[in-house]
Amino acid sequence: MISAIAVQSEHLYHVTFTDSWQDRLREIQAERKILIITSREVINHTGLKTEGLNLCLVPDGELAKDFATLKSVWDFLETHGVERGDLIVAIGGGSITDFAGFIAATWLRGVEWIAFPTTLAGMVDASVGGKTGINGTSGKNLIGSFHSPKEVIIDLALVSTLSDRDFCAGLAEVIKCGFIADPEILRILQESDLETLRSDRGAEALAELTWRSVAVKAKIVSEDFRESGSRAFLNYGHTLGHAIEHHSKYQLRHGEAVAIGLHFAAHLGVKHLGLDRESYQLHRDLLNKYRLPLKFEGSVFESLLSVMRLDKKYQDGIIRFVLLREIGKPQIFADLTEDDLASAYQEVMS
Ligand SMILES: NC(=O)c1ccc[n+]([C@@H]2O[C@H](COP(=O)([O-])OP(=O)(O)OC[C@H]3O[C@@H](n4cnc5c(N)ncnc54)[C@H](O)[C@@H]3O)[C@@H](O)[C@H]2O)c1
Repeated sequence: MISAIAVQSEHLYHVTFTDSWQDRLREIQAERKILIITSREVINHTGLKTEGLNLCLVPDGELAKDFATLKSVWDFLETHGVERGDLIVAIGGGSITDFAGFIAATWLRGVEWIAFPTTLAGMVDASVGGKTGINGTSGKNLIGSFHSPKEVIIDLALVSTLSDRDFCAGLAEVIKCGFIADPEILRILQESDLETLRSDRGAEALAELTWRSVAVKAKIVSEDFRESGSRAFLNYGHTLGHAIEHHSKYQLRHGEAVAIGLHFAAHLGVKHLGLDRESYQLHRDLLNKYRLPLKFEGSVFESLLSVMRLDKKYQDGIIRFVLLREIGKPQIFADLTEDDLASAYQEVMS
């Protein structure tokens, strides 16, 4: 089975669905010189056959998105004489695709790259859209570049080895896509459950959820690649989520922090945009059902606020939030004072 979703960014590329990712990798390797950026852990999880591959190993997870790793990989590329016409291939979760994409963006002022996402979060979100980067000292994803891949290749068989924790973290972004743009996603999630989605019985539902989430992202990115408008809707749940993720020193998964951010944003939606209580409750029900957290420490709002001031939507002293008027109708809301946010935070986290 091969099918694809097109994304129009600085160039047109495809998110291709395959059931034989290692064969695709070998085909690509036969065509040109490739350098694979991955981690030892990803190799072990995915069973990547490494023989004859040119590998550059980075630390696992969020540790990859670090300046020291960046410097060591630039040194590696220099030593190995990676040239303009060579191809960087990222194999891993969102941390590795973010990092490898940024390497590709910066090496020789930009070389081509391909992503093989190996986590659900990587498939439905991180590898699609061309945002690449690393974390700064005081905030998440502060250093980066728009640099779209040449292709994204998804093999859903790879998610079978994910822990439930990482699988559910990926579902947080699926849930987000459902709320901002595709209620059918929410319906499928309501009808299914974690055990089913992780079993053969749920394979079709999981494939549809993944396809629909990629389609939501591809459509929004194709309309607004550089985030001058609607692309910001993809940040639903992320303004608080990023601050929580950073505050937790990356002990929480990105998707877990986003889940808390979604709950908070739904509460703000009810208070400030008239989102109905049923839709708020649906946020809570789906996050609970898929084992995602709803709450964070109640006493740390000031510290989260200082991180939220670094959010890319922060402008003229105002933290802008993506909120919902109703399901499928997101908007940027700029009328929230820091006091509004503080009181909403206490209400949600208590
Ligand atoms: N660029 C974007 O638009 C964008 C969008 C969403 C998220 N992100 C970024 O993505 C990152 C989160 O991605 P993530 O949730 O994939 O986390 P991750 O990349 O940190 O991976 C989480 C864990 O999953 C393991 N893993 C990877 N593949 C596996 C497999 N097939 N089986 C078992 N375990 C496997 C990894 O070893 C790691 O320990 C964050 O840094 C986030 O900022 C970027």
